Amino acid sequence: MGHEVTRVSGPLVELSGVKGAAMGDVVEVGAHFLPGEIVALDGDVATVQAYEYTGGLAPGQAGRGTGRALSAPLGPHLLGGVYDGLLRPLTGAGVWLDPARHPPVAEDGRAVEFWPVRRPRPYAERLDGGVPLHTGQRVVDLLFPVPLGGTVAVPGGFGTGKTMLLQQVAKWCDADVIVYVGCGERGNEMADVLAELAALDDPRTGGRLADRTVVIANTSNMPMMAREAGVYSGVTVAEYFRDQGRHAVVIADSTSRWAEALREFASRGGELPGEEGFPAALPSALAAFYERAGRVRTLDGAEGSVTIIGAVSPPGGDMTEPVTAYTERFVRARWSLDKDLAYSRHYPAVSWSGSFARDTAALARHHAAAGDPGWAGRRARTASLLAESDRLAALAELVGSSTLPGHERMVLLAGRLLREGVLQQSALSPRDAFCTPERGAALTEAVLAVVDRCQELVGRGVPAGAVEEQDFAPIVRAREDAATAADIGARREAMLNRLGELP
Ligand SMILES: Nc1ncnc2c1ncn2[C@@H]1O[C@H](COP(=O)(O)OP(=O)(O)OP(=O)(O)O)[C@@H](O)[C@H]1O
Ligand SMILES: [Mg+2]
Repeated sequence: MGHEVTRVSGPLVELSGVKGAAMGDVVEVGAHFLPGEIVALDGDVATVQAYEYTGGLAPGQAGRGTGRALSAPLGPHLLGGVYDGLLRPLTGAGVWLDPARHPPVAEDGRAVEFWPVRRPRPYAERLDGGVPLHTGQRVVDLLFPVPLGGTVAVPGGFGTGKTMLLQQVAKWCDADVIVYVGCGERGNEMADVLAELAALDDPRTGGRLADRTVVIANTSNMPMMAREAGVYSGVTVAEYFRDQGRHAVVIADSTSRWAEALREFASRGGELPGEEGFPAALPSALAAFYERAGRVRTLDGAEGSVTIIGAVSPPGGDMTEPVTAYTERFVRARWSLDKDLAYSRHYPAVSWSGSFARDTAALARHHAAAGDPGWAGRRARTASLLAESDRLAALAELVGSSTLPGHERMVLLAGRLLREGVLQQSALSPRDAFCTPERGAALTEAVLAVVDRCQELVGRGVPAGAVEEQDFAPIVRAREDAATAADIGARREAMLNRLGELP
């Protein structure tokens, strides 16, 4: 009569007697109603991928179809909560960001709407043009900015700072809603994010940061099976808020652990493996995820967006491995974390030579229209000084920097001042963890003005060594100890005056 379990193999469960079900339908099996999804159908025999451990499940036990695809309960109640990959509230001590405000919701609550997580929610139209997402991380906002609705990959080897960077963005970026999907990463890191978020105020609204955040946690100690669904649940939640006219950011740490779940299922399902054991559908799965980003006109006529930022952890730092290589095709920006920078404690270790951003022209137009016409020039000048300084540093290593002409030594100096005074930004610094656009512009302009003055000095015959000997600490340290853009401007004038006194 009903569904009956006929075979259990790891997370895969064979069910017979299944009638009228469709691929992707959710079924519940066994005495504990373990949820799973139909991944193959052959007549009335279904193969179900369970989302939880199947220990204790045995042939002969019953199953039951739900008649619907894996769906997320969507509603304003999600804000401030912590969920598993299927959007079930994780209860227990310390899990709710704010226990007082978020009692578990009744599934029949009127505000709750169900939506199948693998199906993109509809909108009226995609919007052109670049409206910046301000992240508060200078290297990103200055060199590799992302628009609302954009997509970013953050590849980086072990311990290069992916999680720290993504957490900084989660805390400080100027989006309305953050959906943080912790995917196969360490549970204690997740606990740290939750604790910090619960304690932090939102600098823009004065409210609590937790109140704009939805956390989906599938840490390494939780069933691998729900991990695969977690990223789709996350994007669906973001789309729901987008449809309310809000700007949402999905942060996934790490998409490599998600891809590992895909690989695990493919191998258990007996699929012919593709590259490095990943299923042949890996590229389309990655594309389907990143394609759900965008800034749109909603069906209600409002404007909303979903931005997606995904960490990628290439095994052994090998950037040619499949997840890293495919992801790069589907994203508009890449913040590449460099192990040498991380090793020398240059944080965030975003490589200026290995990263890219494809929407800078549109963003430059937006900045100009919004009163910052200097943005594109600062960016171009910073990027070219950094590249030129890298080239000269390699040369100086061979021939010694003292043999270089004065103006080239000033480029090396510029590289150092930009790296230390602008690009570096400690996540642990009370003042510098987050940088406003005004402070970021003032810091960059201060360094560039000082560099101009130095070039001018050697141009009129001051020995390069005499310039290099000057104390640049007030400029380099301004990011830590000058509070406002005006304070930074004063620093810059004092430095320019002091340099002007060189004979
Ligand atoms: N922006 C930053 N400011 C200060 N310290 C940082 C920063 N980024 C990284 N670090 C340091 O580097 C360490 C490792 O960072 P993190 O855990 O983010 O790396 P990861 O790339 O996520 O590592 P894994 O590969 O294990 O996931 C941190 O514990 C911290 O000490
Ligand atoms: Mg990490």
